[in-house]
Order: sequence, then structure tokens, then C-alpha cells
Amino acid sequence: MNEQDIIDVENRLMANVFAKKSVVITRGRGALVWDVNGKEYIDCTGSYGVALLGHSHPKIVEAICKQAEKLISCHAGYFNDKRAEFLQKLTSITPKGLNKAFLSNSGAESVECAIKLARKYTGKPEIIAVMGAFHGKTMGALSATWDKKYREPFQPLIPEINHIPPDNLGKACEAISEKTAAILIEPVRGEGGIRVPPNGFLKGLRELCDEKNILLMFDEVQTGFGRTGKLFACEHWNVIPDVMCLAKPLAGGLPLGATVAREDIMSSLKIGEHSTTYSGNPIVCAAGCAAIDVLLEEKLAERAAMLGAYLKSQLELLQNRHRIVKEVRGLGLMLGMELKFEVLNILLKSMARGVLVLDAGRNVVRFLPPLVISKDQIDKALSVLDGVLEEEENARSSGAPAN
Ligand SMILES: Cc1ncc(COP(=O)(O)O)c(C=O)c1O
Repeated sequence: MNEQDIIDVENRLMANVFAKKSVVITRGRGALVWDVNGKEYIDCTGSYGVALLGHSHPKIVEAICKQAEKLISCHAGYFNDKRAEFLQKLTSITPKGLNKAFLSNSGAESVECAIKLARKYTGKPEIIAVMGAFHGKTMGALSATWDKKYREPFQPLIPEINHIPPDNLGKACEAISEKTAAILIEPVRGEGGIRVPPNGFLKGLRELCDEKNILLMFDEVQTGFGRTGKLFACEHWNVIPDVMCLAKPLAGGLPLGATVAREDIMSSLKIGEHSTTYSGNPIVCAAGCAAIDVLLEEKLAERAAMLGAYLKSQLELLQNRHRIVKEVRGLGLMLGMELKFEVLNILLKSMARGVLVLDAGRNVVRFLPPLVISKDQIDKALSVLDGVLEEEENARSSGAPAN
């Protein structure tokens, strides 16, 4: 199929729920992807944070191929060597005490499991989530997601999920009642605009949950696996949740979600009370084992901290140069640059010049590049962005249409 045929087929035959950009990506390696015409792009989206190890990392490719030759599927009703190996590796890197996992296929599913766990373990119905949060779009996860454009068409959502203002311990305390099972929160809000909590907030939340005897559940789907410069974002503040949701990069690009919890909490789910047919699929677990090896061997969390500090400092320089940039924020290689207006044009113009960047809400340009991105690639991406910002700024100050 040629480029236009591919676009036509997807538009015609795939649910029109994605805001598509007109590029057909057919190949990737490291922090680069190529379109069907061979044009190269620096991928600062990392496939929405999935390609954290880089595209088609050779060790992931090898692990997938080897396992595919041996065994592709094995229901979790039977035991499997790769699943066992992955569980050992996963629980060897998760924060202390989080040592029992439910394996699923996506971020939303990892949140679904957390919500069920909270209700089952505590026997209470209410979950407190945060205004601005994003936890996915299946009905349970959607109920914890904040944005009304995602929620309103599908009401009624599941009951007893209430939202509190972010970063406000007083409001959190007020919201807790005898019906509350848990607080669910992203340690750093991703979709909500790359918002880092003030120091002391998550520690205070931990203390509050302990005092009120409710669970603290971290959604680290976007922040986990080295993205923020630590293996898990909660490590920045030395706070260990009771339940943690993981997905996106966990299997080097294959679909894998994991809800990891304290043993006593996970054991409250009894046989048949939760499952998915693909749970702990051998190929996905083989990729997951390789992904954890690569993450540790290549010291990617440390690399995210180092390169993230560099990228952030350079974005701050852009902020100084361009009045349309309001703020730069984030941790590690999870960074956001807030503009004074909608960023769609910036995304499209950068793409036309060979750099893929994401949005986070309407006004924030988001960077979730593979942690293997080179400094040189970062510099190239920054230089494109600098030009695009300049152009956009000039167009706005001259009153010309900004496209
Ligand atoms: C923090 C967070 N939780 C959950 C999800 C949902 O993950 P998925 O799209 O794999 O269902 C996302 C996706 O962006 C996310 O960023």
C-alpha cells in the first residue's frame, strides 16, 4: 500500500477516536523513526512513553523472536517459565514491600485492578482521585480520570469515585470519610500538563493514608520504569505506596500492564475475582525480562536524570528567548513546556521538520523521548523547536494567521 492508501484504509476501517497526524511511520530504531517515504524523525514522543528503551531495541527483538519459536501463549491457569522469571525481575525492582503482581495488557487495565483491589481489600467503596488526573479510558479508569471531555459522553460512570484539588493535603483530609478505600494519584501528572507535586506533598499523603487507614495507590503508568530519573517516581520523595500501576514501557513496547501491591493486599483477590486471558503472556513476559535487564544494564534511569536535566535547562533557555513560552517543568525525561496558547501548530510544524513532540492538554508541549536518545539528537530537536517557536511568535505578533 502506498502512503495515501494506508491513510485512507485507517480512516475508513479504524474507529475514528485518535487525533491522527498525517504521517505513516513504518520503521524505528533507538530515538529515530522513519515514515513510509524514508523521511527521518527524532521521536520525542517515545510512542506516548512506550518506547522508553528506544524503538526495536535489539535485546527486545531477540527476546521476542526466541520466545516466539518456543511458546507464544500460555494461560495463567498454567505455570510458565518466562512469566515466573518476569515476576521475579519485576518484584526485584519495585519499591520495598510491593511484591505481588497482577499482569494485564495496558495502563487502564492496571488501574482497573487497583480500583477492584482497593474495594476488595478494604470492603469500602470510595476512591479519591485528583482533579486533572488521567488514568485511562475503560469505565473504571475513566471514572478516576478527570477531563470532562473524556467522561461526559459515558455517564453514569462507576459511583463513589470523587476528585479533590491537586497538591492540597487539607482537601484530601476533608474528603476522606468512613467509606473511603483509597487515594489514587499519579506522582507526576502526565496528561494533566506535567505537574510535579511540591516537596512534602506525597509524604504528607502517605502519612494521611496511614492515619486514616486507607490505601495509597500510585499510577506510575507514565512515570515508572526510569522515566523521571529514578526507577519509579515515588523514589524522588521516598514514599512507598500500597499499590502501584505500571504499563507503557514495561515490555519494551509490547502491551503489558502490571498492578503491583503488598502481598496481603493482592491476596485479598480470590480465584476468579479478577483475570484477563492474556495475563502474563510468555512473549510479553520474555520482552519484559529483557526490558528490565536493559533498563538496569544501560543505567537508563540515571541517563534520564542526566539528559533530562540538560533538556530542561535548554528548554528554559528557549523560555528566556521566546515570550510565548510560559513555563518549563518536569522530572527526568518527562518534561513539559507550557505555552500561552494551543500547541497543535507547534506539534505539526515540528513534525514537518523531522521532530515528533506530544501535547499534554491544550497548552503544553510534552517530551517523553526514549531514554536512549543522544545529546546530539536532543540538540537537533531543540534547534527545530527554537525555529518553530520563533516563527509562531513572529506570526502572532504580526497578527498573521499562525499556520
Ligand atoms: C498515568 C496514566 N495512567 C493510565 C494510562 C492509561 O494507559 P493505557 O492507554 O495503556 O490504557 C495512561 C496513558 O497515557 C497514563 O498516562
